Amino acid sequence: MKRRHFIKSAGIIGASTLILPRTKIFGADAAGNKLNIALIGTWGRGEAHFGAISSENVVALCDVNEEHLAFGAKRFPKARQYVDWRKCLDQKDINAVVICTTDHTHAFAANWAMNRGQHVYCEKPLANSVEEARVVRGTYLKNKNRLATQCGTQRHENANFNRVRELILDGAIGKMESVSAWGNRQIPKPGYLPAMGEPPRYLHYDLWIGPSPFHPYNPGYFAGGPGMNCLSWNMYWDFGNGQIGDMGSHTMDLAWNALDATLPTSAVATGDPFNPDVSPVKLDMHMELPANDWRPGIRASWYQGGAMPESPNRMIDLQKIDHGAMYEGDKGVLVADFRSRLLYPLGNNAALTHYKPRTEASLIPEMGNFQKQWINACKGDLKTSCDFEYSGNMIETMLLGMVAYRVGRKIQYDSAAGKVIGDAEADALLSRKYRDGWTLHG
Ligand SMILES: NC(=O)c1ccc[n+]([C@@H]2O[C@H](COP(=O)([O-])OP(=O)(O)OC[C@H]3O[C@@H](n4cnc5c(N)ncnc54)[C@H](O)[C@@H]3O)[C@@H](O)[C@H]2O)c1
Repeated sequence: MKRRHFIKSAGIIGASTLILPRTKIFGADAAGNKLNIALIGTWGRGEAHFGAISSENVVALCDVNEEHLAFGAKRFPKARQYVDWRKCLDQKDINAVVICTTDHTHAFAANWAMNRGQHVYCEKPLANSVEEARVVRGTYLKNKNRLATQCGTQRHENANFNRVRELILDGAIGKMESVSAWGNRQIPKPGYLPAMGEPPRYLHYDLWIGPSPFHPYNPGYFAGGPGMNCLSWNMYWDFGNGQIGDMGSHTMDLAWNALDATLPTSAVATGDPFNPDVSPVKLDMHMELPANDWRPGIRASWYQGGAMPESPNRMIDLQKIDHGAMYEGDKGVLVADFRSRLLYPLGNNAALTHYKPRTEASLIPEMGNFQKQWINACKGDLKTSCDFEYSGNMIETMLLGMVAYRVGRKIQYDSAAGKVIGDAEADALLSRKYRDGWTLHG
């Protein structure tokens, strides 16, 4: 059957995302109107920011690996160089910071930078524990009238994110009942790596461990290529949260963008048997999100590593979507990946009479290049798509699900107080333990 005919007969509306040209900068780039940027993490994901920040003054570079620092210095030779981000952030002329380090240091560097009045772009995930998410969001909210923040979920610039949001807001699925997001990446690890050799002389391994409990050096934590090395360490609890901080941060962002959600009231999760060293490969978690002014309370779910939501119809094979989201309503189901979407109307007639599409003039405007949006915001109205309130709420919700997984039971959450209700064991897992000498509140 020809694809077009199949879609028509199945009652599915398909749409692919246009790939849109990168933005212009609206005059914010004029000489004398440049940011003084510090880049922390100057290789791997850090390199993906070279282009965007090269329009500004890059005044400081920091990396725990001196070879990676030299790599950054080749591109930005005028910048002062550091191996310890705490010292770097004290450089007086810095007014904006881009953080591309390991997940377990994100909330630290972000919070310290905001406390020094610096704008922050922080790679996803914004935090590695519920407490960290709350601290970073809290500091941002206190400084919202003077700082621009952006969490590095740059797929958000795909026009599909807002096309999905418009479909939901305009009633294409009727009354929203639930949302699910999933990812199929699997990086099984047995446990922390055994001690092996000495760190190379150019690597400040103790600073790499930073605030986390110490684990002996093994070259396996550094075995990945540029931009992929995070897959060498992000499964270990003290360095990451597995797929929640990895593809989960991108894919839940696709779902989250259409929810106008704050924080959940409960979470429950199941998955691989608990391993004290390593986060689970297979996992599903379900959080209850309270009603807001346009939708009722809904269930938000995250599936990974082979766990999948049920397909709404045998014609839709969700397994074919590596990283996707599905929104279920009383009149339809919307399935999306980062660049395309399918609407499946439900009911005997599936006539879509309830759906009132907006006019072209009222489509949500293009956001343009994601990194440039932050740079422009630092110099302008401070508004970004993934500020630390939006992204802080999202990662706190997922990390609460991870706490439910760890205790193996449903937990009730007082989101105003940041406390698990009536479950001391779960409550203790909202935060993680840091090595002496390290504080989130610098
Ligand atoms: N937005 C995306 O699409 C995307 C893609 C890849 C990675 N990431 C994120 O970027 C981050 C880095 O990932 P990666 O694969 O580049 O990892 P990586 O291990 O290669 O680290 C990146 C750089 O940071 C340095 N570094 C690590 N800890 C540091 C510290 N405490 N202080 C200073 N420098 C430090 C490393 O030496 C390296 O040069 C991760 O948090 C990952 O989730 C995001």
